[in-house]
Amino acid sequence: MMESTKHTWWKEAVVYQIYPKSFMDSDGDGIGDIRGIIGRLDYLKELGIDVIWLSPVYQSPNADNGYDISDYRAIQKEFGSMEDFDELLDKAHKMGIKIVMDLVVNHTSDEHPWFVESRKSKDSPYRDYYIWKEGKAGGPPNNWGASFGGSAWEYDESTEMYYLHSFHTKQPDLNWENEDARKAVYDMMRWWCDKGIDGFRMDVISMISKDQNFPDAQVHGGLYGNLGEFTMNGPRVHEFLKEMNREVLSRYDIMTVGETAGVTIEEAKRYAGETEEELNMVFQFEHVCLGDGKLGKWNDSRVDLRELKAVMSKWQTELSGTAWNSLYLGNHDQPRSVSRFGDDRPEYREISAKMLGLCLHFMQGTPYIYQGEELGMTNPYFDRLEDYRDVECINAYHELTEAGLVSQKDMLRYIQLRSRDNARTPMQWDGGENGGFTRGIPWIGINPNYSQINAKKELKDPHSVFHFYRKLIQLRKENKIMVYGTYQLLSPEDDSIYAYERAYQGKRIRVLCNFTDRILPCEWKTCEEGVVLIRNCENTDKTLLPYEAVAFWV
Ligand code: GLC
Repeated sequence: MMESTKHTWWKEAVVYQIYPKSFMDSDGDGIGDIRGIIGRLDYLKELGIDVIWLSPVYQSPNADNGYDISDYRAIQKEFGSMEDFDELLDKAHKMGIKIVMDLVVNHTSDEHPWFVESRKSKDSPYRDYYIWKEGKAGGPPNNWGASFGGSAWEYDESTEMYYLHSFHTKQPDLNWENEDARKAVYDMMRWWCDKGIDGFRMDVISMISKDQNFPDAQVHGGLYGNLGEFTMNGPRVHEFLKEMNREVLSRYDIMTVGETAGVTIEEAKRYAGETEEELNMVFQFEHVCLGDGKLGKWNDSRVDLRELKAVMSKWQTELSGTAWNSLYLGNHDQPRSVSRFGDDRPEYREISAKMLGLCLHFMQGTPYIYQGEELGMTNPYFDRLEDYRDVECINAYHELTEAGLVSQKDMLRYIQLRSRDNARTPMQWDGGENGGFTRGIPWIGINPNYSQINAKKELKDPHSVFHFYRKLIQLRKENKIMVYGTYQLLSPEDDSIYAYERAYQGKRIRVLCNFTDRILPCEWKTCEEGVVLIRNCENTDKTLLPYEAVAFWV
């Protein structure tokens, strides 16, 4: 395995993701906002992160919580104004924190002026900004299903044709084959860069180039064909990203991360290859899709540690020296990491949250912390469908139960474990009403455990998950080996312990993580006093206590 040679600021950074709607509400309307974020910059500074990735704050009718944008150059009313945004950018910069914006350009909202014009007539100059097709045999052009349920094609009466929407009906896909549409996107991106933002997280960017034959796709377990086959890593995606790089990215000192569903190692080396001139890094999906079954993510399987290690290790070793990894266990689309990969029972929550943080932050790549992960926040386990807000799980519940593919009871359990709303309950700031998130009524229920799990309590406790994350971030700044060192897995067959080493300039760090609630003998634990970088419990025996994790020099 090669040592990565080129050193850059974004490889050395730690990123913190903010989902604005659920972060901090400053005006009492129950919805988080930009002034709320400004008021919490000190908290982020104390944690020590370098970059904020801001999920969309643009004007949007909110069919998909801001991932359906109707004006790329305006701020969502509920979130504040452009003046608020400028103030956030300015204050963050003064504190040494960079801001990366979400870029959602696979699709717009159907309320975006481009689409409003496009749907009016076949001769509109904006017609080809979107993907319009004639129906077939009285139905849609093909059998593709949308990510949020139903067909991926919506019939539009005004011109009697169908438009493609890979996600919600209110999220029509842009037609990247159209040069004017691409130019308009680049123009908008330059506008934000000229404002001084520090980069882009690119939403489903692997899906912008579609197979122009639009063939029927295979049906797996649901009702529709899986469009991913013909939309992910499509024929012209790299050509488009090289063009975007030339037209925009290469002109600024910014960082870019592509959300690349369906990405393989080979593809990642193209998207994020050091010499490819496309993006800096990608989010791969393999580890968060482990255990997916015939109904996709809707199941209750636990992740098998051997599989998790195999996937993580493959990405660690295969990208090393040629491309760059993003390291994440959670985000706004995933359940809480401690509930999914750790153990959120009260006696193990803290220690397993720290174990997961340690396991991830010692790997090669840029670590991403999702808001509340640094507190060990858990899934809320709401037990009524009415408590969920996300279109994805609500539509899936109806579609799958009504088709008789799963019982209502099972589906609710799957939602409790896998719904995106698990990550979207409000940040737990203190033990007061609504966890200090809002003085109004929160748009989604707060996790009832906020009186035990909250930032105020953790800031005061030097042994909290928060302070553990703070130390992890600090260690990464002090030890280049954590950023650039090579990675080697020690324990491929062990189904309970994740053990690996990093090596750099003649030095080595060993990382040991017990992923179980059992005490395990551990022959790799050779640390004497003085060599430990960080550990989540005191135990000098050659054993690992439940969820024990330690990193030490060897
Ligand atoms: C990405 C976003 C997700 C959104 C989807 C459609 O996967 O992370 O939240 O729903 O794209 O924009």
